[in-house]
Amino acid sequence: MKEILHELEVRRERARMGGGQARIDAQHKRGKLTARERIDIFLDEGSFEEFDMFVEHRSTDFGMEKSKIAGDGVVTGWGTVNGRTVFVFAKDFTVFGGSLSETHAQKIMKVQDMALKNRAPIIGLYDAGGARIQEGVAALGGYAEVFQRNVLASGVIPQISVIMGPCAGGDVYSPAMTDFIFMVRDTSYMFVTGPDVVKTVTNETVTSEELGGASVHTTKSSIADGAYDNDVDALLQVRRLVDFLPQSNTSPVPEIECFQSVEETDGSLDTLVPANANKPYDIKELILKTVDEGDFFEIQESFAKNIVCGFGRIEGSTVGFVANQPMVLAGVLDSDASRKAARFVRFCDCFSIPVVTFVDVPGFLPGTAQEYGGLIKHGAKLLFAFAEATVPKVTLITRKAYGGAYDVMASKHLRGDFNYAWPTAQIAVMGAKGAVEIIFRKDIADPEKIAAHTKMYEDRFLSPFVAAERGYIDEVIMPHSTRKRIARALRLLRNKDLENPWKKHDNIPL
Ligand code: HXC
Repeated sequence: MKEILHELEVRRERARMGGGQARIDAQHKRGKLTARERIDIFLDEGSFEEFDMFVEHRSTDFGMEKSKIAGDGVVTGWGTVNGRTVFVFAKDFTVFGGSLSETHAQKIMKVQDMALKNRAPIIGLYDAGGARIQEGVAALGGYAEVFQRNVLASGVIPQISVIMGPCAGGDVYSPAMTDFIFMVRDTSYMFVTGPDVVKTVTNETVTSEELGGASVHTTKSSIADGAYDNDVDALLQVRRLVDFLPQSNTSPVPEIECFQSVEETDGSLDTLVPANANKPYDIKELILKTVDEGDFFEIQESFAKNIVCGFGRIEGSTVGFVANQPMVLAGVLDSDASRKAARFVRFCDCFSIPVVTFVDVPGFLPGTAQEYGGLIKHGAKLLFAFAEATVPKVTLITRKAYGGAYDVMASKHLRGDFNYAWPTAQIAVMGAKGAVEIIFRKDIADPEKIAAHTKMYEDRFLSPFVAAERGYIDEVIMPHSTRKRIARALRLLRNKDLENPWKKHDNIPL
């Protein structure tokens, strides 16, 4: 008996060594942790239970039968993050470069199936060289099986990917179908085809970093939702994100103890909006003063900064925030901002996370670049996302809400539940200057007349009261009471019951 127990320990120890000490050392030398070290940091201490530690590949081509390593390049299992169950898989670069074989894929599929069946989030840690070249089509089949499961789990359980090394070829599409992708700066990169293929096909010379590093994907392509300086920071931040998310689309949003009363008012908000309507201010200040204890997890912080999206809590419960940012491009809606916010709103709606929207938007960005780039369809994505969302929707217009952008930004007409405005709000078809130049074109050469028309337009339309008179704004509220009013609204909406008509699925303008 003792020998059998000993053998288990020996086999476990061998499996834990993955590709061996030399490869582990090489991994560390590059500033990367091993798959198991990453899982240890990510999960609560001692909570990890591993599956399939002894699985080996079955390939016999290219002499592969002589090199088998227990685990086959991926560590899988489940554990907890602050006490809540999550499933994980972590590619082990020390074993065949983390490449995906048929059996490696089967291990991932097993945790995907378990996560879906048990309704818990799944987190994948990537550090791999793509399809196991020696296995050919078996690896391709394995990828497609993983992709299929990503799609079925989408909108049912949160799926998160963390890119912590190479992620190329077949490895990129599974993360692309998950809800969030995070990268580690300098050590990770993602692309469909690498620099060598790029050189051959397009004759461009690029490094891996230039082609698919964290900076590219967080600022240009928007593939990644955030980047961190090292493995530890990335894993700890993803733990923070997991704390905000429900376990599944049928679980309630997590609730933690709230240490900041919502009864307190914040007088500083009364002067947040500058007297000059063309002067910017930082909408993040309002977000940070609205959420519990200033704790805000921003998504895509470095992309389309003219809109801010992220998670916070009010009275301990998770809330998604969408806010125009007057500091960047005056908070205008363009294609990138519309796509970014649309995806975020849809995530919140999938998982019953209420959406709070702060509006200060001068309209959609004009120009050929935007129109040629499909602004109509991209803007429609955000309109569609807000309109189809059935979660509690609380909207606050702080300053400008002009034109189509007024409609799009979770207006009353798109089933906003509580639509508030600050006294500084200006809800109109357009700004005074543009409006006057159109409707009083005949007076354009007379500055005095134009000034009088402008004053008249501003007095009549650039206030929240015309909209409030029509019931488009439920109430004009004092800035200092914003947190309290939003908290009260969300409390009321906890029992909101709204369903869209049955359909197989919608046809969002992709
Ligand atoms: C088998 C692989 C492998 C792979 C790496 N290795 N990639 N083994 N299949 N795809 C092995 C290497 O042979 C090596 O083994 C070990 O992993 C470490 O690799 P190195 O090359 O020494 O590491 P490094 O210099 O850091 O380079 C990492 C790398 C490079 C950039 C990822 O290994 C690489 O380019 N790999 C191939 C990438 C690729 O073309 N993959 C196929 C994509 S096609 P030893 O024993 O020497 O340590 C694809 C199609 C699927 O994925 C599409 C489905 C939709």
